[in-house]
Amino acid sequence: MVKICCIGAGYVGGPTMAVIALKCPSIEVVVVDISKSRIAAWNSDKLPIYEPGLDEVVKKCRGKNLFFSTEVEKHVYEADIVFVSVNTPTKTRGLGAGKAADLTYWENAARMIADVSKSDKIVVEKSTVPVKTAEAIEKIMTHNAKGIKFQILSNPEFLAEGTAIQDLFNPDRVLIGGRETPEGEKAIQTLKNVYSQWIPEGKILTTNLWSAELSKLAANAFLAQRISSVNALSSLCEATGANVNQVSYAVGTDTRIGPKFLNASVGFGGSCFQKDILNLVYICECNGLPEVAEYWKQVIKINDYQKSRFVNRVVASMFNTVSNKKIAILGFAFKKDTGDTRETPAIDVCKGLLGDKARVSIFDPQVTEDQIQRDLWMNKFDWDHPIHLQPTSTPSNEKNVSVVWDAYEATKDADGVCILTEWDEFKKLDYQKIYDNMRKPAFVFDGRNVVDCDKLREIGFIVYSIGKPLDPWLKDMPAVA
Ligand code: UDX
Ligand code: UDX
Ligand code: ADP
Repeated sequence: MVKICCIGAGYVGGPTMAVIALKCPSIEVVVVDISKSRIAAWNSDKLPIYEPGLDEVVKKCRGKNLFFSTEVEKHVYEADIVFVSVNTPTKTRGLGAGKAADLTYWENAARMIADVSKSDKIVVEKSTVPVKTAEAIEKIMTHNAKGIKFQILSNPEFLAEGTAIQDLFNPDRVLIGGRETPEGEKAIQTLKNVYSQWIPEGKILTTNLWSAELSKLAANAFLAQRISSVNALSSLCEATGANVNQVSYAVGTDTRIGPKFLNASVGFGGSCFQKDILNLVYICECNGLPEVAEYWKQVIKINDYQKSRFVNRVVASMFNTVSNKKIAILGFAFKKDTGDTRETPAIDVCKGLLGDKARVSIFDPQVTEDQIQRDLWMNKFDWDHPIHLQPTSTPSNEKNVSVVWDAYEATKDADGVCILTEWDEFKKLDYQKIYDNMRKPAFVFDGRNVVDCDKLREIGFIVYSIGKPLDPWLKDMPAVA
């Protein structure tokens, strides 16, 4: 029986290991974490992350061949394969601050593995890290190995939150990078044998270590670039009277381009896109490729522009001030079907509105008040540190932020509504009721193109939808980004 241990019980480690346990009953999988509260939650009825389908998978395997534990060293010692899925935050100080990955957590994990191991192990890099990290980790481990042999593999995870279980059941591909030596190939084959329990052979791609590491950064950069491309076009659509949905559809029917991932939005969020692009930019700069770095930087610049353009639109259309006006925020998560708020565009939009002295009333079906307060007062990049090790940010009693548990409560007596996450339930709200309870003129700013603009205009709302032809009201109130 093969034993697997995964260090890091987060959004990647948790669901991935649960699916491996489900699909491979003969493998014992232990997920370990230094956070006691996170492990306690994995062992409870209320899992620490919201992910459709995850509860069922965990329930089927937990206590049989899937375990969650804080005994990190014991389980690493016992394992044949160790996955490492710890935080890789962006550095906030020193060399490469604001761009380079901070590999402190990774290095600690690697040293610990070398320290406690008494048998040969395969160490699998699961968190996204800069190209050549595996090589650095390999050096740390072999210099501390005391005669034990480690094979390092890169096996980046491509799951998207909200669809993680489906993505793990039926991935487009599984990528395994390793050394091109007999030992490296043997390690690749061992990991391949795990995935081939449920994934067709043809979908398991094997490459050298660096190709696997770079492919992950590249895939995220390409995806983010598509969104920035369509978002850049959305501002041109507003200026010219074209409709971005029609343009996206027409462009996406070209089979060379494809229809997916072309929805204009208030901006992309999530723990990966910005971090991975910043990483890519830093690697390019370090390798003497400033032109290439500049090219990818633009993807982030457009994303920032899109968020500030949205805030400016809100402020401009309300007579250039939102001071003391109540603005309802519907949706705080970075996308629907997740409670995750990492790098969510809602943070920048709320900060922008608060900067203009608005009162914001926030409703999200999955995000807690605690989380929202933390997000709004935390420094940039601090979110990516384990909560118990985070720099203490002052808890806020900010009087201008309220978090409520109902969309009608959030919008009551509001001047404007901003839709920032595409939760399905926002399509089905009773907008007549919302309109009746708002101050007039009543505005809806749809950052996700989820509402029917014509219907809302019939009710009496002034509506702004990203990339759609502008309401006459908005044409008279130009917003400058
Ligand atoms: C992403 C990648 O999709 C996944 O392969 C990788 O493993 C991790 O990063 P994730 O961040 O979970 O996954 O979500 P994703 O669905 O990619 O969405 C990212 C952001 O882009 C969200 O804020 C989403 O709302 C936004 N988005 C997505 C758009 O604005 N428009 C689109 O058309 C698609
Ligand atoms: C292009 C569009 O494809 C077509 O839809 C439009 O109507 C006119 O412009 P064309 O210029 O004839 O067509 O050729 P295309 O096959 O698109 O190639 C354009 C250039 O890109 C060529 O120099 C080609 O060598 C290059 N290319 C294409 C690459 O360098 N890499 C690729 O993967 C694809
Ligand atoms: P991801 O989205 O990549 O899964 P998360 O931040 O959700 O990232 O999860 C990373 C987890 O790794 C956190 O729960 C954190 O407590 C854990 N972690 C970080 N360093 C270590 C370590 N040295 N040993 C065990 N767990 C760690």
